[in-house]
Amino acid sequence: MINLQFQYNQVYGFLSEEDIQFMQDEVDINHSLLVEKAGKGNEYLGWIDLPVKTEDSLLDEMEADARSLREKAEIIVVIGTGGSLLGARAVIGALETLFSSFYATKNNPAIVFAGHNISQDYHAQLLSLLDRKDYAVIVVSKSGTTTEPAIAFRLIKNHIEKKYDPAEAASRIIAITGTKGSLKSLAEKNGYKTYTIPDDVNGRFSVLSPAGLFPIAAAGFDIRSLLEGAVEMRKVCIETSSLTDNPAASYAAIRSSLYRMGNQIEILIAYEPQLHHFTEWWKQLFAESEGKAQEGLFPAGGNFTCDLHSLGQYILEGQRILFETVVHVSKTSNSLIIPLDEADSDGLNYLAGKTLHDINSMAALVTSLAHTDSDVPNMDVIIPAIDERSLGELIYFFEFSCALSGYLMGINPFNQPGVDAYKNNLFAMLGKPGFENETELIRARMSDI
Ligand code: PA5
Repeated sequence: MINLQFQYNQVYGFLSEEDIQFMQDEVDINHSLLVEKAGKGNEYLGWIDLPVKTEDSLLDEMEADARSLREKAEIIVVIGTGGSLLGARAVIGALETLFSSFYATKNNPAIVFAGHNISQDYHAQLLSLLDRKDYAVIVVSKSGTTTEPAIAFRLIKNHIEKKYDPAEAASRIIAITGTKGSLKSLAEKNGYKTYTIPDDVNGRFSVLSPAGLFPIAAAGFDIRSLLEGAVEMRKVCIETSSLTDNPAASYAAIRSSLYRMGNQIEILIAYEPQLHHFTEWWKQLFAESEGKAQEGLFPAGGNFTCDLHSLGQYILEGQRILFETVVHVSKTSNSLIIPLDEADSDGLNYLAGKTLHDINSMAALVTSLAHTDSDVPNMDVIIPAIDERSLGELIYFFEFSCALSGYLMGINPFNQPGVDAYKNNLFAMLGKPGFENETELIRARMSDI
């Protein structure tokens, strides 16, 4: 049974129930293409079955390796970019206590990320932190060739090999990569423990593969509950294409209808700051899947209430080309009550006795009302709590609806020609062997400018 709820009563001013049900035939066709693995990009549909096909023995192995890294590290550096980083970062960011890095110790290490930028200052500052700490490294790259993580790993490998003897250094490195490529051969040559990202799972759909599961386990979280949540959501998503019974299908149908009505931007809103990186993961999932052939909603993120003091102005009064999907969390982990102040010098006693969650929920309610009144359609995704089980449901809900939305738009949601072009252009201009022709072509273009 799933606990996630998808509510769309606030779109009724923009779409009627009949408009939504009108999409059913189209959804049926595309749902079949997806679950029967007969649509575009079907060589990358391994993610559909990850929650049910991940062997218990693999989970045992990852949990044991995660424990041993945690025992010896005050810091675990997770290296990766795009889909090889954002899924793990989303889940870890959601589950860790917000100021956890200040309490980090061995057995309770801080998780830091690298390989998602090429900033000299970022890496120099990271290396000086690592000078002072016992650490371990998880490097994630399916291709094993992406420039940013490859550079970060080269730097950190060089550092760790100076800090520890060779066997110890190797025991502190876990490589998670595809079935071939330079990271795989490097890992084999150096004797690193390796986990495999299956060939049929690409980056942005890989969080429930070892690419996400291992770093999440190393951060101390329960990967079995995460998968259990995904298993439950998968059941609903696979079993039926009914817009009444499958929340992912109904979200896909409504966002596609809103897109066809001229909306160009979808903003994922969260009122809990722990979900910031979840929003980043969602942005990548939808941008890289849908943004093709001049199609696709532009996915943006909003951290409310903070962004109500900035983006809020645009949302209320800017161009009417956007809608919002709001993630609500029913129950927070802590309760904090506004205290009574006898003097009431700040005039806040009218809030005394209320919890912050009451106030946050009220802010969400009034904001949705104001935004829908201003012609910004709102939809709500409600999870009971920020825990592994709910995040598993939420991840699979968005993955399935993203794939279905892509099919409804007539594109292949599982390739990323634009990202590949960036990677290749960078290889060419950095002088990577094998890219000489591309280098010449780009140089010729630059001389024309
Ligand atoms: O979703 C994708 O395919 C991309 O975002 C990749 O995950 C990203 O480019 C990193 O690729 P790799 O894992 O090969 O280093």
